[in-house]
Amino acid sequence: MAKFITFEGIDGAGKSTHIGFVADLLRAQGLQVVTTREPGGTALGEALREVLLHQKMHLETEAMLMFAARREHLAQVIEPALARGDWVISDRFTDASFAYQGGGRQLPLAKLEALEQWVHPHLQPDLTLLFDVPLEVARARLDASRTLDKFEQEKAAFFAATRAEYLRRAAQFPERFRIIDATRTIAEVQQELTQIISSLSGKQSGKQ
Ligand code: TYD
Repeated sequence: MAKFITFEGIDGAGKSTHIGFVADLLRAQGLQVVTTREPGGTALGEALREVLLHQKMHLETEAMLMFAARREHLAQVIEPALARGDWVISDRFTDASFAYQGGGRQLPLAKLEALEQWVHPHLQPDLTLLFDVPLEVARARLDASRTLDKFEQEKAAFFAATRAEYLRRAAQFPERFRIIDATRTIAEVQQELTQIISSLSGKQSGKQ
């Protein structure tokens, strides 16, 4: 049975490093895997990503554009892939809207819940890997690695609130979230990911 896996975490937590690793694990089991990202994943979504990551705008505009990109992403990529029986790995999904627009920017969660109900009332990820690190670690990784976009330029309080909302959602939906302690080495994190993925794709490896 095809599954939908999402990767989440504050900027600098290191999730992107691990996406290819998890995709390769699944492909090694003979599964078809689609990797994608949000905002983005379609031509329109990537155009919206450019605007979202670099232009200032009203908070509600930002939230609605995130969900507009997501609507297109679901219609063009995620839903067709799952319908074909492919596994889908998305670098961020709706939990990021709750964490960044809801937690970080304080948009009332009820507004995000309304958008979620509109855009994907019946679909949730089967597994959400939340890469969690303290803010100082995330900041040090970001500073070392690149030119910062609009979100990455936010202050510590923004990321504290973003991280707190991610952790609150992980506690609210324990059946699909796994919190990954991303302060560890890449090898240690990958060992844990291997265990998580083998229990999720247990049908192929003989387990339920
Ligand atoms: P990110 O996934 O970190 O990509 P990269 O590693 O290339 O920088 O960047 C996406 C940014 O968009 C990130 O800062 C979080 C933000 N974001 C939201 O604020 N809300 C959302 O719903 C999504 C999907 C992303």
